[in-house]
Amino acid sequence: MPHKPYKTATLCANAQVGTDSAFNAVIPPLYLSSTYKFNGLEDMGRYDYGRSGNPNRDGLADAVSKLEGAAGGVVTSSGMAAIDLVLNVIPAGSTVVAPHDCYGGTHRLLRAREKQGRCKVEFVDQSNLESVKASLADQSGILLIETPSNPLMRVVDIAMLCKIAHDAGILVVCDNTFLSPARQLPFSLGADFVIHSSTKYINGHSDVVGGIALAKTPNHVEELQWWANCTGVTGAPFDSYLTLRGLRTLNARIDIQEANTIKLAEILQTQSRVSQVYYPGLKSDPGYELAQKQQSGPGAMLSFELDATDDEINKFLRGTKLFQLAESLGGTESLICHPATMTHRAMDAKSQKIAGINQGLIRLSVGLEDISDQASELQDLFKLLEKV
Ligand SMILES: Cc1ncc(COP(=O)(O)O)c(C=O)c1O
Repeated sequence: MPHKPYKTATLCANAQVGTDSAFNAVIPPLYLSSTYKFNGLEDMGRYDYGRSGNPNRDGLADAVSKLEGAAGGVVTSSGMAAIDLVLNVIPAGSTVVAPHDCYGGTHRLLRAREKQGRCKVEFVDQSNLESVKASLADQSGILLIETPSNPLMRVVDIAMLCKIAHDAGILVVCDNTFLSPARQLPFSLGADFVIHSSTKYINGHSDVVGGIALAKTPNHVEELQWWANCTGVTGAPFDSYLTLRGLRTLNARIDIQEANTIKLAEILQTQSRVSQVYYPGLKSDPGYELAQKQQSGPGAMLSFELDATDDEINKFLRGTKLFQLAESLGGTESLICHPATMTHRAMDAKSQKIAGINQGLIRLSVGLEDISDQASELQDLFKLLEKV
């Protein structure tokens, strides 16, 4: 009898548990060896060389594939490496249609690949389905979706975008970094590839930089594996071991971090110096309805517009005690950042303006601290503004 598919919490907690066939270790061990013995000529075991395959990397890819509903995937050395790896599946000169408000590093990578002549790139507002249709007409290539977007938390319709792309013969890649499979399953909505910066929620402890590229079909998995070995972008065994360890608490972490975020978003809405809160968990957010449809929760990232001068913004950010003023997201600790000068500084001023990244925009990655401490940190920061 085929066994019932397990729930997300179960898949996380039991990721690769009990799979060690050598000594029945409950938690699979770390394999650091860069090379593997052959049994004889033309008689290779499961692995030959650490760039092409490693048990820790494969264990992590398998666990995330199960969570996302992928045929398989490749663990890479970073999220950027995962995005770049997927670009290999399209022929040179194809078009990549990306969100105009995507992560700054993605914007830089695509612009650089375009400059090299590898692909053409169009940045579009993906909430405008007509402009997505227009940008895909008579093209071949990839539609890259990032939802909720970084840093403005805009939600776009994955199922609708997949339909438009597939009607035009275009493959869809979805960056699921901001929600993780604990909150959003892009393959079930039609995506062909899912990528992660596993640096974020999947690892969840801000101590590994890594990425994962997953595919819906075995053929695409094979293509990703071939290119990953060819270009050498595969991740390190120890990083995979740590990331798998982090993954086991993913569901529990997100539950708490998200509950905290909902409360902080409500507090921020009551602040006179906050002109806008961007969080799809708020009923007033334009992405609320869509998030209800395609996400199983609003996640633990939010941003807000601080109505303040540059000096005040500086004072606000320098006044933090509990929230670390730092880039990245998805760890157990709360992080606060200023996208215009930090995560999105690789975007030129014009592109930032088009994306809506203003000087007053602040992004929060809400951690696992007690909500009362997080709330009083925010209250203290707003008090600093009263004294300016
Ligand atoms: C949405 C998104 N995708 C991709 C990346 C790139 O990931 P990495 O920093 O692991 O290369 C980031 C990094 O912040 C991100 O926020």
